[in-house]
Amino acid sequence: MGSKSVTESRSSWEHGAQALALLDAARERGYLDFLAEPRTAAEVTGFAGHRADDILDAFLAHGIVVAADGKFQLDPQLATELSPGAPVDLAAQITRAALLARQVADVVRTGAAPVSAEESIVIARSVALTPNDASRGIVTAILAAVPEMRTAIENGRLLDVGSGVGGFVLTAATLLPGLRATSLELLPEVAAVARERAAAVGVTDRVDIRAQDARDFTADAEFDSAFWAQPFFPEQTRAATLAMILRALRPGGTLVIQQLDDDNGEPATTLARLVAHAQGLPFARPLADLVTETVAAGFELIRTLEIDLGRIAVLRRPA
Ligand SMILES: C[S@@+](CC[C@H](N)C(=O)[O-])C[C@H]1O[C@@H](n2cnc3c(N)ncnc32)[C@H](O)[C@@H]1O
Repeated sequence: MGSKSVTESRSSWEHGAQALALLDAARERGYLDFLAEPRTAAEVTGFAGHRADDILDAFLAHGIVVAADGKFQLDPQLATELSPGAPVDLAAQITRAALLARQVADVVRTGAAPVSAEESIVIARSVALTPNDASRGIVTAILAAVPEMRTAIENGRLLDVGSGVGGFVLTAATLLPGLRATSLELLPEVAAVARERAAAVGVTDRVDIRAQDARDFTADAEFDSAFWAQPFFPEQTRAATLAMILRALRPGGTLVIQQLDDDNGEPATTLARLVAHAQGLPFARPLADLVTETVAAGFELIRTLEIDLGRIAVLRRPA
């Protein structure tokens, strides 16, 4: 556990909080889009509607923009990460970082960290793959590491439990033309975004996105494979969700789960954990504990594996 004193840490905390505020406000105010093209200081002032030289200095000092030939432009790496070809939505990740800071304060003040529907969309976007070539490369690597899943869904049915905005399922659907999927998402506002994204990539005929509590889904031995976004399911919903998945899979059908986050003992971990726990969510539950939880629900472990993208367990409904 890190144990620097507040006196030692305070200036870096102050700077970190202010720098994140700078970046998130730049995103919100549209600077990150405007500065995708090279702009003169006068153009930036025109865009701002007020003096912007100090703002530009701060952007420069924080590596948000670079200057060349008297013009200012987004840092090339940041521009790549913000582009539509990037595998994850960096703008949503910036917004989520600012949201997490507010949630830490909420928990300290009240013991709870409620999120609005709009914020749930931000959280779902921040963890979702964008269905594009970069993400298809990532899903290809996952499916190569988990051939049981690839075989099951290539021309089969996938149950996507906790779909969020559909990062995995939509990317997989654009990769595997024979895949049909049902996605379950509790929040109608989040499911609506997933449906828009499904329409944008032309897979609405094969991906059925339902706004409902996964625990209430009734299917019997209909699915070849399931993917459960377990880190986002509060404790009191997990046993019933696993019972639903077990019933919905055909005998021998596979369940894939992933460990998210690592409790590395760093001070930052304690903040992410206090927010997760205030929402009833497990934080960084180790894969071994996830296996114990799923086996207790009636699944059989096929194997666990560790790839660049994380720790994964593959289980099945007993034959
Ligand atoms: C953030 S997404 C996970 C990422 C997603 N699978 C992807 O590939 O992009 C997890 C979602 O699970 C949803 N969720 C939590 N509890 C649920 C439940 N009981 N039934 C259905 N969805 C639930 C949350 O609303 C959240 O949007």
